Amino acid sequence: MKKNILITGGAGFIGSHVVRLFVNKYPGYKIINLDALTYAGNLENLKDVEQASNYFFEHANILEPDVLMNVFEQHDITDVIHLAAESHVDRSILSPMDFIYTNIIGTVNLLTVAKNYWKENLDAHRFHHVSTDEVYGTLGDTGFFTEETGYAPNSPYSASKASSDHFVRAYGETFHIPYIITNCSNNYGPNHFPEKLIPLFINNIMHKKPLPVYGKGENTRDWLYVIDHARAIDLVFHEGKTGQHYNVGGFNEWKNIDLVQLLCKLMDEKLKRQPGESSKLITYVKDRPGHDLRYAIDATKINKELGWKPSVTFEEGLSITIDWYLKNEEWLKHVTSGEYQNYYTEQYSNR
Ligand code: NAD
Ligand code: DAU
Repeated sequence: MKKNILITGGAGFIGSHVVRLFVNKYPGYKIINLDALTYAGNLENLKDVEQASNYFFEHANILEPDVLMNVFEQHDITDVIHLAAESHVDRSILSPMDFIYTNIIGTVNLLTVAKNYWKENLDAHRFHHVSTDEVYGTLGDTGFFTEETGYAPNSPYSASKASSDHFVRAYGETFHIPYIITNCSNNYGPNHFPEKLIPLFINNIMHKKPLPVYGKGENTRDWLYVIDHARAIDLVFHEGKTGQHYNVGGFNEWKNIDLVQLLCKLMDEKLKRQPGESSKLITYVKDRPGHDLRYAIDATKINKELGWKPSVTFEEGLSITIDWYLKNEEWLKHVTSGEYQNYYTEQYSNR
């Protein structure tokens, strides 16, 4: 069936991998990447697909419903994969309103335009909302988040994502928008903006800068290679059941400090530094307020129903990721100039 898929946030980290996968795998689909190009959006991420005949870029903001409607009309949008968001927890603590506007109001705008454009023939369409495991709040030392876990968000970021999930569900129940939601754990991989733990620490190790570990480094995250998340989105978008959630995770839990030590070891090897040299950069700093202790996803449903599982081990994925950053210093230079410098000073100078 012919599809004209609107992918929002396609110039960001995960979005760019989703756009690439869809453009290359589905030459019969039209892929329309809509992105406001905030500090996190970067068209350099998509250089290899920008000339493809089934790829289109719309520089637009999901806060502008009239512009969204024009894009729907111009491209006759049949489906939406919605990734555009403010995505960094620390920024949500510094400026919560940006998260409320984009993540909540922007999502409601998109839902409303989809509802108004698709009108009666709703079942022929799909609205895939890309969300996070952070909506479930925090775990103690044991247990996993399943699709039945109640929402208990703890940061302005996760509260805004939880709210957007609720609106997606409400538009499904009230207006029959055929939605599907994926809730994924921490992604890592190429093109990850260097404000998040793994790319920030790779960048700092490269430049021999301190590695600011929050609190005691005992918080635990479940890490998934970004291309495996893109594969999961592809599968759920095509084969998932309307009105359902699918949790996506790597069955790959790491305490932050253990992950940082592994990163230091791999970087010492790749940079031909003395063993132990990079770990000397580790600096314990003031904890993140409301810092969730542990995330762990139970990805049984997507595995059993759709046959999805991660394709690379963490060690393989991390090695590919480090190599990518070492080869793409220009990309790093471009994204760490300008606004990034101000954010870095504000975030880390008083810790
Ligand atoms: P990102 O910050 O790298 O990219 C976000 C993209 O959205 C950028 O290209 C940005 O320009 C665009 N954008 C922001 N505000 C916009 C607006 N108002 N209008 C249009 N475009 C706008 O984010 P990411 O890490 O790639 O995350 C993508 C999605 O996946 C988000 O919805 C996030 O909540 C979710 N998610 C992320 C992770 C993760 O580990 N990074 C895990 C689970 C879910
Ligand atoms: O779980 C999915 C979520 O993962 C996504 O929804 C978010 O968009 C994404 O940013 C990510 O959130 P986290 O807060 O878990 O990721 P971050 O990389 O910011 O932090 C990972 C862990 O590392 C967390 O426990 C905080 C810690 N940390 C982070 C930074 C930036 C540090 O110790 N020092 C740091 O400088």
